[in-house]
Amino acid sequence: VTIKDFQTTLLNWFDQEGRDLPWRHDHDPYHVWVSEIMLQQTQVQTVIPYYQRFMDWFPTVTALANAPEERLLKAWQGLGYYSRVRNMQRCARQLLADYDGQWPQTAAELTQLTGIGPYTAGAIASIAFNQPVPAVDGNAYRVFSRLLKIDADIAKPQTRKLFEQVIARIIPRERPGDFNQAIMDLGSSYMTARQPDSAHSPVRRFNQAYLDGDELQYPVKTKK
Ligand code: ADE
Repeated sequence: VTIKDFQTTLLNWFDQEGRDLPWRHDHDPYHVWVSEIMLQQTQVQTVIPYYQRFMDWFPTVTALANAPEERLLKAWQGLGYYSRVRNMQRCARQLLADYDGQWPQTAAELTQLTGIGPYTAGAIASIAFNQPVPAVDGNAYRVFSRLLKIDADIAKPQTRKLFEQVIARIIPRERPGDFNQAIMDLGSSYMTARQPDSAHSPVRRFNQAYLDGDELQYPVKTKK
């Protein structure tokens, strides 16, 4: 059981069974960013039509920067947490004012932008710019805690660092964005929170918690 073996197994599965989602049709950072912000508190199936309409209405960073507020809020109606879209417009304006409309390509620089935290920065850097950096969200906590039986408490802020370090050693230099998205797909198909189907998972032989019969004990999360 090697890292290479795991990477190949995961990416082959992603090539065969990865979901065809509208924001996966190219690697445009604007597309990646909008989809990741929408997906933060909302399920994939709900996001799809919102994403498509958003791209019709605001096809570029410039269009978003210049959008009238009422149109912006209309585009978000039903998704909730309006601060997300307000921050997106601030970020679009920052990109135009401070970055000449060009996205910075590293996760460290991306986290300087309004509304972009470590997860979103990792997702954009890896998917749009091929940087080998982790994108640690609930899916990544669940998948890697089970694969490796990591029992650090994910309710603790410092646990993110641990997962980032672990994933940094596993993420392939080639195809880091596909790797991160494959983890998301695994976390929402076979390696779900309550009713995982690990017996049929493409990575079952790498899933130590499943092999030991205790995967529901992961991730460890204390109440705050
Ligand atoms: N959840 C968060 N980001 C996602 C992505 N890029 N694809 C599918 N599900 C996701």
